[in-house]
Amino acid sequence: MKWKMSRKLIISAAVLAALILLIQLVPVEQTNPPVEADLVAPAPVKDILRRACYDCHSHETRWPWYGRVAPFSWWLAEHVTDGRADLNFSRWPIFDFEARELMLRDIEKQLMDGTMPLGSYVLGHREARLSDRDREVLLEWVRAGS
Ligand code: HEC
Repeated sequence: MKWKMSRKLIISAAVLAALILLIQLVPVEQTNPPVEADLVAPAPVKDILRRACYDCHSHETRWPWYGRVAPFSWWLAEHVTDGRADLNFSRWPIFDFEARELMLRDIEKQLMDGTMPLGSYVLGHREARLSDRDREVLLEWVRAGS
């Protein structure tokens, strides 16, 4: 009985290990395209955005080593693709005035709701946690318009 249990366990572990190895073969794109036109903003604002938002909302993503390992790599790549699609500081000056205003309103909303940066990201990136002061600095910038 005991032997049967442990044999099952060993087989399950081997299957799991094989699966984990296999999924590493699925290609994922983790790229940093050239920065076309970076956002220009006062230094304190830029510092906060760089440490709390740029990993997902710019072409200057710091891809971590664990982000190369599937399935985390899929998850990270999706965050960055979706993040860049919604808001991309590496292309900021290219957007027209109205688009920038819309994005600023969106940023304001995220800040008020406390939904950005993503909770799962802040867990591993303490430097990205926004203090009350950080939030104030960003809100002031957002409300001043682009
Ligand atoms: C770990 C990655 C990550 C970080 C860091 C991050 N975001 Fe995002 N952000 C996303 C993703 C993913 C989406 C797209 C969400 C969706 O499609 O539902 C998004 C969407 C947004 C949007 C658009 C929301 C909407 O619904 O239109 C804004 C605005 C935004 N983020 C602002 C910020 C700001 C400001 C920061 C820094 C304080 C930040 N984000 C940090 C991943 C991130």
